[in-house]
Amino acid sequence: MADAKYAPPGVDPNQASIARVYDYFLGGNCWYEKGLEAVNKILRELPDAKELAWVNRNLLTRVCRFLSQTGVRQFLDIGSGLPTAENVHQIVQRADPTARVLYVDYDPVVAAHGRAILAENDNTEFVLADAFDPPSILQNPVVRDHLNWDEPIALLYMAVLHHRYCDTPADRAVAAAATLPLIDALPPGSYVAISHLIDPHDGSDDDTTVKNVLGAVDSSSMKNVTALTLPEIEALFHDTELIPPGPHQPAGIVRAALWWPDGPLGELSPAQRILAAGVAKKL
Ligand SMILES: C[S@@+](CC[C@H](N)C(=O)[O-])C[C@H]1O[C@@H](n2cnc3c(N)ncnc32)[C@H](O)[C@@H]1O
Repeated sequence: MADAKYAPPGVDPNQASIARVYDYFLGGNCWYEKGLEAVNKILRELPDAKELAWVNRNLLTRVCRFLSQTGVRQFLDIGSGLPTAENVHQIVQRADPTARVLYVDYDPVVAAHGRAILAENDNTEFVLADAFDPPSILQNPVVRDHLNWDEPIALLYMAVLHHRYCDTPADRAVAAAATLPLIDALPPGSYVAISHLIDPHDGSDDDTTVKNVLGAVDSSSMKNVTALTLPEIEALFHDTELIPPGPHQPAGIVRAALWWPDGPLGELSPAQRILAAGVAKKL
């Protein structure tokens, strides 16, 4: 647990944040005591919350390995989270130490830890910006300079686009509006990877699980979460071309656990069923 006395400027340690709650679920130590209230509320509603965090984090590892093997050498990771084990730069710079990584997150705690850890890594930078304010990302001089926008870039939105309020039906399109300018800015040959909470919208057990997640987050002092239907998640990729999620699989989005799994999987658990993932190429 981090000491609230040493919270970085601009950080309220009494306010839970998704980055710190997620860090707790992954076994990190960048969370404050107050965040435990939110953690416990989520665990009461979804005992598998830690598993859900790992479903996503393991997916991130597989996606980075895959994209690295396709030859991509630049990674723009939006909503990067606190630097725990196996961060994007560690995965892709293992394959090529010159691979460039740019982390973006809007949480000042993530910024403080990210900048400290990355201070000695010339090929990795951190920018404090909001995923739902694309100009604040695209016009940032570090973003412009650290990446070569004439060469393919992997744009990652892993478990970030569902962290937002959604009061009206029109709000459901906000995430798709946020991804468009960045996808438009990518050169051909680039990739987009997205994981997102699914709204099954069908009264199934998964529907109940997702409603429990939303209820738990709503009742914590964190921002709300919005789950999207599979077609709405697919719309986040705009005109890019989804690639197959595994050998002999049709191109498309799948349950995150099923995206190029490292080995055979049995029946999927609730946590494995409520997160969708896809990777698409910009032609
Ligand atoms: C669940 S964590 C995912 C971290 C990482 N992408 C991963 O897959 O392991 C969500 C992260 O998104 C960040 N985030 C949430 N809303 C954001 C926004 N509007 N702009 C930038 N970052 C955001 C949070 O601060 C948190 O670090």
